[in-house]
Amino acid sequence: MSRSASLFPLTSLLIELCSFGGVCAEKGAVCFPAGLETFSQLIGRDENGTYYINETEIVDFPRFPHRGLLLDTSRHYLPLRAILETLDVMAYNKFNVFHWHIVDDPSFPYESSTFPELSKQGAFNAMTHVYTASDVRTVIEHARLRGIRVIPEFDTPGHTLSWGPGAPGLLTPCYLGATPSGVYGPINPIVNSTYQFVTSLFQEVSSVFPDFFLHLGGDEVDFTCWKSNPEIRAFMREMGFGEDYKKLESFYIQRLLNIVSSLGKGYIVWQEVFDNDVKLRPDTIIHVWKENGMLYLNEMANVTRAGYQALLSAPWYLNRISYGQDWIEAYKVEPLNFPGSPEQKALVMGGEACMWGEYVDVTNLTPRLWPRAGAVAERLWSNETVGNVEDAYARLAEFRCTLLRRGVQAQPLFIGYCDQEFSGA
Ligand SMILES: *[C@@H]1O[C@H](CO)[C@@H](O)[C@H](O)[C@H]1NC(C)=O
Ligand SMILES: *[C@@H]1O[C@H](CO)[C@@H](O)[C@H](O)[C@H]1NC(C)=O
Ligand SMILES: *[C@@H]1O[C@H](CO)[C@@H](O)[C@H](O)[C@H]1NC(C)=O
Ligand SMILES: *[C@@H]1O[C@H](CO)[C@@H](O)[C@H](O)[C@H]1NC(C)=O
Ligand SMILES: *[C@@H]1O[C@H](CO)[C@@H](O)[C@H](O)[C@H]1NC(C)=O
Repeated sequence: MSRSASLFPLTSLLIELCSFGGVCAEKGAVCFPAGLETFSQLIGRDENGTYYINETEIVDFPRFPHRGLLLDTSRHYLPLRAILETLDVMAYNKFNVFHWHIVDDPSFPYESSTFPELSKQGAFNAMTHVYTASDVRTVIEHARLRGIRVIPEFDTPGHTLSWGPGAPGLLTPCYLGATPSGVYGPINPIVNSTYQFVTSLFQEVSSVFPDFFLHLGGDEVDFTCWKSNPEIRAFMREMGFGEDYKKLESFYIQRLLNIVSSLGKGYIVWQEVFDNDVKLRPDTIIHVWKENGMLYLNEMANVTRAGYQALLSAPWYLNRISYGQDWIEAYKVEPLNFPGSPEQKALVMGGEACMWGEYVDVTNLTPRLWPRAGAVAERLWSNETVGNVEDAYARLAEFRCTLLRRGVQAQPLFIGYCDQEFSGA
């Protein structure tokens, strides 16, 4: 693309911007956000206040197709406005997937039309701390207009405590000796009603969220409760599972995956589903999250060697903070730095920055995300040869000033100033 200082003809410029970047998220998505964002970052103002752009030639396209950001709206409720503003800033950073970790143990803010009791009984507050059908549509449309796909996560069979009150019989009753303790564990995988429930819920979710993919979770299933329950133990014997509760987990997940496939959806799962040898459809995407030093790279090698597509998040848990410039560690990650064939490397779809919500709500979401998530965004967008940290610092510091100008409360990287500081208004 080559254009001189004139802003016209704007129409043909936009059409050209449309065609580079490969950012069409899905059929029907507006096509130009990443190109238009590049264009807007080229605009300068001369000494007389006149807007201009320098003659520029751009050859630019994303390295990875999946450049995501996870928000957790279960551990703290994030108001709709905070989600929409985050989508805006995601577009400035050319992220193109919003992974909405919408429910979890602490709360169930998603208002289900099929099972309204889930949020009535599972949200922190069923009036004020919920996402209505209209909120969800607003998020999806706001994202679509910015070239961002919305992938909701309904994590099961663990991470479901908030589902229990609104779905009697769904969770496993835990036992103390011979009697139920009153505490509940993961979804009960041995009763048919469970599968009727998940079929109906995922039928709804599949039609509410248009993206081809759903994130089905599958992480951190705690077997203690299952082990305590005599009916589950009897089922284990009957099925010949021995003491291997991973087999019970697989039994559940396989049935879930069949249900979701039959709804015409693809799925992403956390790495445990792969680690536990669940039989998967070949086009399953495995989401690598366990950090454990650099072992995540071995996991990427294992996942892709088995022929599955992979997404990386392990080194990008931005909810973790530390003193100093911790964006650098995130920036220096090379997702393909594992031993493997070119075919294996081609199975890496990209990755996601994660903002888990234990210590994050609307008060600190924005400064904790930005500009640090920009380091991940650049890693997922740019050629792997783009890796010089000093250059990146200069770009990111300047970009942060752009964010302040746009009213985003992005925190500083280090000592310095912006011509236009954050006004707070
Ligand atoms: C345009 O180019 C001049 C000369 O290289 C440079 O000083 C200026 O910062 C550029 N303007 C923008 C908006 O990039
Ligand atoms: C700014 O305006 C002054 C006075 O009209 C003019 O001499 C100068 O060339 C202008 N600068 C630019 C960059 O156009
Ligand atoms: C559960 O479903 C299976 C298969 O559809 C069936 O064989 C079994 O009898 C059902 N169990 C109960 C308790 O309804
Ligand atoms: C990868 O697979 C190898 C061989 O099966 C296994 O020893 C290793 O623990 C796996 N690595 C990870 C991180 O799971
Ligand atoms: C990345 O940069 C290198 C060196 O400039 C170049 O050879 C290569 O083609 C680039 N890769 C892509 C995918 O553009």
